[in-house]
Amino acid sequence: MSEVAIEDRAGLDFVLALRRAWATELYPQLRHEFDASGAKGDARAIAKTVHRLPTYPWFAWLERGSQKMLWRAVGDAIEHQAASIPFLDNGPSTVELDPTFDLPDWYTEWDIHVQPGGIWSSEAAALVYELGARLVMLGDNDDYKFHRLFTETAIPARDYRRIVDFGCGFGKSAWPLKQRFAQAEVIGVDLSGPCLELAAARSNERNLALRYRQADATATGLEDKSADLVTSTMFVHEIPQQILPAVFAEASRLLAPGGVLRFLDFHFTGDAFRDLAMIEHGTRNNEPFLPTTMQADLVAMARKAGFADARWVAFDERGAGRLDTLQWPARAEWHFPWAVLEAEMAAPAQAEDSR
Ligand SMILES: C[S@@+](CC[C@H](N)C(=O)[O-])C[C@H]1O[C@@H](n2cnc3c(N)ncnc32)[C@H](O)[C@@H]1O
Repeated sequence: MSEVAIEDRAGLDFVLALRRAWATELYPQLRHEFDASGAKGDARAIAKTVHRLPTYPWFAWLERGSQKMLWRAVGDAIEHQAASIPFLDNGPSTVELDPTFDLPDWYTEWDIHVQPGGIWSSEAAALVYELGARLVMLGDNDDYKFHRLFTETAIPARDYRRIVDFGCGFGKSAWPLKQRFAQAEVIGVDLSGPCLELAAARSNERNLALRYRQADATATGLEDKSADLVTSTMFVHEIPQQILPAVFAEASRLLAPGGVLRFLDFHFTGDAFRDLAMIEHGTRNNEPFLPTTMQADLVAMARKAGFADARWVAFDERGAGRLDTLQWPARAEWHFPWAVLEAEMAAPAQAEDSR
């Protein structure tokens, strides 16, 4: 990615400062007002009280308003750069696009994350998404250390032969897998053709050999039992609840006995105020399936698809990464309740036993 011009930099810096103030000042202020209200109950029960707090209109508007400003600033920066996806030429990564591929309506009818035109509509959309995704983490994910932390702390050390990453986007979740498990064939699957082209180009820049494939995670077209690790990051909450069982079924079909599933996503914390903020984040950030997906029983879905031992553990992206329990360290500022859904396919001996 080339450097952002100085006049665009000012706009981006302003939006980032605004978002930082939202996370580190407005959110704790709203929390303080809520605690002082003495309201009790779950997220639904406290909603009315929260909506009447003095800071709430600022908090709610700025969450969505600053996101819209972010995309405008990022869109301008990409337009002024006249950036394009580098040609794939003869780098080590490959991309398998399907020109007849029909994107599902639920995917195209929302501008996900409030990004105008979504992340699938053009080459520029993929580039805007790439720059926005870096900035939106407020400097916390420069060099994509978040994804490296997931790969290093949440994935068991094994000699994987094939790893499939569902919803790989422009590749930042897939590269660390290849970097850590160099012997494995790593396949990134996504619906967005432009994102996959960008993923392959960025992989080539890193001299990494990955395979990118345009497919729905519910029907990848890859061979039965051909993988020993299926991953996803920031993917599950973007899927409608009724489609999730098919995602687990596909992971189960792809994995050989003893295969590993690791999905990094969000989990409710049991703190009603935080949980309400998360539900409303889904609405304000155009992530329409997030509230219901977070309420769905993914452990039960995984079990139903044939996984053993499914469980959630917390993930601390600013600290140790994967934690052993579903408890997060206390932090005052707004932050996502990251968690890892872990499950395994029954190993051959267990499979025998359960027959
Ligand atoms: C928030 S992005 C996460 C990208 C990447 N895993 C990361 O952590 O940066 C979610 C990705 O899932 C993709 N996606 C959504 N639904 C999908 C589906 N049914 N099959 C494959 N990919 C899907 C989107 O196109 C998008 O690239």
